[in-house]
Amino acid sequence: MAWDQVRREDPQQCRKLNIAIDGPAGAGKSTVARRVANCLGYTYVDTGAMYRALAVLAIDRGIPLDDFTSLGELASEVEIYGFDDDGVFRVWIDGEEITHRLREPETDRAVGILSMATPVRKVLVSLQRQIAERGGVVMEGRDITSVVMPDAEVKVFLTADVHERARRRWRDLIAKGADVPFEKVLKDLVERDAKDLEREWGKLVKVEDAVLIDSTNMSIEEVCDHIIELCEEKQKCST
Ligand code: DC
Repeated sequence: MAWDQVRREDPQQCRKLNIAIDGPAGAGKSTVARRVANCLGYTYVDTGAMYRALAVLAIDRGIPLDDFTSLGELASEVEIYGFDDDGVFRVWIDGEEITHRLREPETDRAVGILSMATPVRKVLVSLQRQIAERGGVVMEGRDITSVVMPDAEVKVFLTADVHERARRRWRDLIAKGADVPFEKVLKDLVERDAKDLEREWGKLVKVEDAVLIDSTNMSIEEVCDHIIELCEEKQKCST
């Protein structure tokens, strides 16, 4: 497996840190991680997209989602490639771009099950660790602070009240022209939260040394500023 990274030169020539961001669905992790990465000239890595890409391939190849062994074999055989392209995280799997399929309802359903497969998690975690070895990464997901990068210099647990998360999701969907009731979005989020907590390996937890950011009453800019301040503090401490 390979995962390409597009990294800009750090204008300040500062030591590059690794930033790990975990949190439940709809907390704004992708938006925040992408903005922080752009601001610092770091590489943004959306680990959810890796799980989603494998789910797309498993569907296409007809692999039963309860066959965790075969899913693990698939994960270790295929090549996944991805990078952030001006606000869109584009992903190729075995040479085919599947970006447009990552958020399809069928993929949503499949990834919830596939992400519980420990053999799949082992392969993806190893790939994510390889990416992080180079430094200067803003990686977001569910198990980044706890399993993938427990040694990251900056660790953040980003959350928000479930009703606020559902409201944000719902507003995004409506803006994209979807006709979906708020109650359905809320119910889906509650179910996804439960799935994130019930995984045997890589379940969503707030590790002790992660900074808790509750974005319920914060803007995206305020959250990003807070994370950048955390990075600056770390930079100061290490010089
Ligand atoms: O963040 P997202 O909604 O794109 O994540 C897709 C799925 O993958 C979701 O079911 C949670 C799971 N996931 C995970 O188990 N571990 C990660 N590091 C990232 C995502």
